[in-house]
Amino acid sequence: MSTARTHRVAVIGGDGIGPEVTEAALQVVEAVGVALETESFDLGAARYLRDGFVLDEATLNHLRGFDAILLGAVGPAIGDTRIPGGVLERGLLLKMRFGLDLYINYRPFHGVPGSLADGCDFAIVRENTEGPYVGEGGVLRYGTKDEIATQGSVNTRFGVERCVRYAFTRASELDNPRLTLVHKTNVLTYSGDLWARVVREVGEEFPLVTVDYNHVDAACIYFVESPQRYGVIVTDNLFGDILSDLAGAVSGGIGFAASANLNPARTGASLFEPVHGAAHDIAGQGLANPLAAISSAGLMLEHLGEIDAAARILHAVADFKGDTSKSSTSKILSELLEGL
Ligand code: IPM
Ligand code: MN
Repeated sequence: MSTARTHRVAVIGGDGIGPEVTEAALQVVEAVGVALETESFDLGAARYLRDGFVLDEATLNHLRGFDAILLGAVGPAIGDTRIPGGVLERGLLLKMRFGLDLYINYRPFHGVPGSLADGCDFAIVRENTEGPYVGEGGVLRYGTKDEIATQGSVNTRFGVERCVRYAFTRASELDNPRLTLVHKTNVLTYSGDLWARVVREVGEEFPLVTVDYNHVDAACIYFVESPQRYGVIVTDNLFGDILSDLAGAVSGGIGFAASANLNPARTGASLFEPVHGAAHDIAGQGLANPLAAISSAGLMLEHLGEIDAAARILHAVADFKGDTSKSSTSKILSELLEGL
């Protein structure tokens, strides 16, 4: 049953195919009968190129007050050098992750027929506010032959523990409750030891969850050769970034991968976005695959407490039988709507 409450959602369509896939996702939300009150935000590469605006504190505070944020994709076209690397990543995406304390990046994967992970369901729980992403470090003697660059990885007991506890909670909800810590404890001995100890300690609260550990390099082999071994994978920010692209590739392509940037403590609006980018090469032609954006909207409804509506969307995407490779956005959308 729907709570019949209208949820306030900030919509950032963004660049390239972002607005079209977001529009398709909103149509699916409407089709499952969930009422949204949306407000659009013009943010991303196009906005930056127009007037230099990325994201200020006032806009961030405004975003914080919504029930959720739905984002399409942001970024310039490949080869467009007008925006230096990091301006949008640090200034917009990471600013929202840090500023809204979106400490979990939850990325579920469902292997589509014919993919290496055919029939497998697993999820990556990526720590989303620490690790090498915090920007710790600096540069000395820039541009000289004596240049020194350092880039540290920050792992706090608090940050690791809240991430690991979320991952265990997700794992405990599975039919076969399993959690795998992925790290590189044999080399990253300080941070790896913290992660391993926290997993051991928090694991005691979840006696029904089977716990495993993989080094990240070995995990890359297992993702390809035996993805069925996984339930929930918990890992740090950078390993999670890399592994989620690999997970997307083995489960049918990044065009299917959804993500939820979550603030489970609900002190700021959580943000939902497809993992794929802006794909400017196919933008505006009606060719974009909207399934990842639609799944992301499904994850958003789950977070908003619209559990039945969310399940309908997520199942329809998982059961989608159409051919997405030679299809159009509208054809995929109408086939999906039929399967709801
Ligand atoms: C992702 C992206 C981002 C990340 C970039 C765009 C900052 O790759 O969401 O996976 O590294 O987290
Ligand atoms: Mn990534």
